Order: sequence, then C-alpha cells, then structure tokens
Amino acid sequence: MPKDTLTITDNRTGKTYEVPIENGCIRTHALRQIKTGDDDFGLMGYDPAFLNTANCKSAITFIDGDKGILEYRGYPIEQLAEKSSFLEVAYLLLNGELPQQKDLDQFTHLVTHHTLVHENIKSFMDGFRYDAHPMSMLASTVAALSAFYPDAKHTRDERSRRIQITRLIAKMPTIAAFSYRHTMGLPYIYPDNDLSYVANFLTMIKRIGTTTYKVHPVLEKALDVLFILHADHEQNCSTTSVRTVGSSEVDPYSAVSAGVGALYGPLHGGANEAVLRMLREIGHISKIPDFIKQVKGGEGEKKLMGFGHRVYKSYDPRAKVIKRVADEVFEVTGKNPLLEIALELERIALEDEYFVKRKLYPNVDFYSGLIYEAMGFQAEMFPVLFAIPRTVGWCAQWEEMVKDSEQKIARPRQVYTGSGRREYVAMDKRPAPQK
Ligand code: CMC
Repeated sequence: MPKDTLTITDNRTGKTYEVPIENGCIRTHALRQIKTGDDDFGLMGYDPAFLNTANCKSAITFIDGDKGILEYRGYPIEQLAEKSSFLEVAYLLLNGELPQQKDLDQFTHLVTHHTLVHENIKSFMDGFRYDAHPMSMLASTVAALSAFYPDAKHTRDERSRRIQITRLIAKMPTIAAFSYRHTMGLPYIYPDNDLSYVANFLTMIKRIGTTTYKVHPVLEKALDVLFILHADHEQNCSTTSVRTVGSSEVDPYSAVSAGVGALYGPLHGGANEAVLRMLREIGHISKIPDFIKQVKGGEGEKKLMGFGHRVYKSYDPRAKVIKRVADEVFEVTGKNPLLEIALELERIALEDEYFVKRKLYPNVDFYSGLIYEAMGFQAEMFPVLFAIPRTVGWCAQWEEMVKDSEQKIARPRQVYTGSGRREYVAMDKRPAPQK
C-alpha cells in the first residue's frame, strides 16, 4: 500500500526523514527537523515570489491553469457570467452557496443602502491635486475609511466583519466615481439607491447637467459581467497583500487598501491601462511585426501587455467571455479603432514560437481596456474598474483568513546575504568610497 509521505535523505549527514504529504503538499516547517548539528537552524524552503508555495487553504476559487478552468465555489465562470448577476456572485463568494431569493433581496438591499460616504470623505478627496491618479485616490480613501469606522478593528467579531464587508462593497463604487469626477473637474454625484449596483455606479460617473440620465441596458449588463469576471482570482498579488496585511489583525479597510495598492501595478490590475497605451504606441497593424520583434529581443524590458499569466498556461477563460462582451458593447458604442490592432496582435502572437513555447496567451486585461474605453472611460480608470469587483474577493479571502485557525501573522523567512558582523567606524576613519 503506497504511503502519503515523502522520504528525504540529507546527503550532508546521511540521515533519512519521512514527511507527510497532505493535499499534494508537504509542510515546509517539517523541513526544520533536517539539521547538520545542534546549532543548525534547520532546512527552510526558498521560494521568491511564491512560485511553488501554498500560503493558505481556501474554499473560494479554483483555477486549473493548464486547462483554463476558473470556478467560484465550484461554479464555472462561464455559467456565472451567462446566468448570474454580480451581486449574486458576491453573495456566493462571501457565503459559499448561491442565495435563495429572499437572501439575495436582503443582501442587495444592504449593499445598495450603504453607498453613501461621510461628507468629510468628499472634503478628503478634494484635497488631491487635479491630476491625481484615480487609483491613488482610491487606495488612500479606502484606507481613510478606517478612521471613519473605528469599530472595524473588532475583526474577531463576525457581526462587525459583515458590517465592514457590506460597507466596503457598497462604498467602493461611490469612491471610485468620486475619484473619476475629481480628475474630470466635475461635481460629485450622490448614489441613487433605487438603481442597480452597476447602473448606480455608471450614473455617478456619467450624469452631467440632467436628472434624467439613463444607463444603456446593454452597457449595464456588460459591466455587470465584467464585474463577475473580476470578482476573485484566488491568491494573486493583491489578495495575498490583503491577507498579509490583514493577518496583523488590522481593520479590513487598511487591508483592502493594501490590495488596491498592489492592484495598481502594471503587472497586475494596471495591465489593462498598459495594454491601451501599448496599442496606441503600435498605432497601426503594419507596425505589429516590429513591435513583436522588440518584445522578443528586449530581455524582459518590453512586454506584450495583456499576455501571460503566472497560473494560466492556456487561454484565460475570462478573456474568452470578454471577447463576446466586447462585441455586444461595440454594437452600441461603435467599434474601438484599436480593436483591429489587438486582434491582429493576438493572431500573430499565438502563432509565434516565442509566445507558444512560453505558453503566453491573452489574459483578462487584453480586451477589457478596449471595452472600458468604448464605454467612455479614460485609461487611468481601468484599474479602478478592476478594484470595484475585486473588493468582493478581497473581503471573502480576508474573512476566510481571519476564521482560519491555522493562520498567524504573516512573516516569511529570509536568506541573509549581507555582510558579516563588523564594528562601527567613526566618520573620520571611514575609507573613501572607491570610484
Ligand atoms: N510578453 C513577453 N514575454 C513575456 C510576457 C509578456 N507579456 N510574459 C511573460 N513573458 C516571458 C518572460 O520574459 C519569461 O521569458 P524567459 O523564460 O525567456 O525569461 C517567460 O515568459 C516566463 O515569464 P515570467 O515573467 O517568469 O512569468 P510570471 O509568472 O513571473 O509573470 C506576468 C506573469 C502576468 C506578470 C507576466 O506574464 C507579465 O508581465 N505579463 C504582462 C502583464 C500583464 O498582462 N499582467 C496582467 C496579468 S492578468 C490580470 C491579473 O490577474 O492581474
């Protein structure tokens, strides 16, 4: 009968150890017993950027990167995008099961009635310069919410947790819309609780000089689907940031603001903004071969933005859904002129040996920016549009972490490579630096 264990022989000492295998993992802490002597600290795992380290157990999102599968609580993303709504998916991610109608109604009521922010939040946001990036404003303002809700520090209290989660999901679109209005020099529009989550957000963005602005139903549906696609993605950089910061038992506003910061980067949620800039830089399909040549020869300096993924080594299932949504949106808004370049870029890249060999396929960000631009958003808003739905995933993952008795404050080890111990040298005795 095969055993679920791993036998390790330390060739330095000749000793053999047997380590249990659970869920396809060994606990790296089990390596600490492997020592060369009493004063040896014990073996550690070295894994920069967590390429092969599971940091938690999670029952929220499943990804099979080789097969291109994404499931929330077991439900395939394609089915949720087609049949569900963003708030139903939010309920699912937070509670583990699809809601009964009355549960969904109650959840929707709660989320749509916590949309207002304190008036001082408006003054806080007024303090930003006219050209502040909306994602910086979002990160800072979400962190500021912690000062408005000091009760949020009771992270062990389930009722308090649920109130803060509702507030975060409800207020995110308001803060996001205020950040947009600030950059455009437009007055803030207060939320309208009679509208759907998405229609309310789009109205706060778009309404100018009229009370009769109505969101186009196709665009409302499209953004709802995009929100579903972005709601969670297991242990990505921003979610790991939320879990890490949250592990200190700080309030969820501070933890989620760290997530917004991580998402801002061009390798993560900032990629959709970078894709648009790249497509503009290319400018015409005739320039694509030249661009691809630069990417291949650039030693990592120039990347094909919107391509590649740490986990997906096949087509990102979200990108497939997004392509369909793009067609529906362009029917209403007219085609984005950059679409032609994007399609040709994808075609050439998918046939090119460099990308094939490295299993680089379009990810969620390759087409989302084109849709957002067609809907009238400037590129700086793209990561903000990612952060609104991802708040649900951050909150679900944060709460799972708080409730997980195996979790402790996150504190990785390091391999020290600096100088050995040396004595302090007075200023007048220090050797001149070598030129
Ligand atoms: N263009 C050109 N080459 C690439 C790209 C790209 N977009 N992505 C990866 N590579 C190359 C990389 O240079 C490396 O080549 P080599 O083996 O010769 O050194 C190889 O492919 C493996 O890449 P890696 O950097 O080890 O992969 P990673 O898992 O560390 O990085 C990634 C994943 C998403 C950061 C990276 O693919 C990338 O920078 N893509 C562009 C940015 C992007 O679109 N980000 C959005 C990700 S999806 C949304 C989200 O969830 O955040």
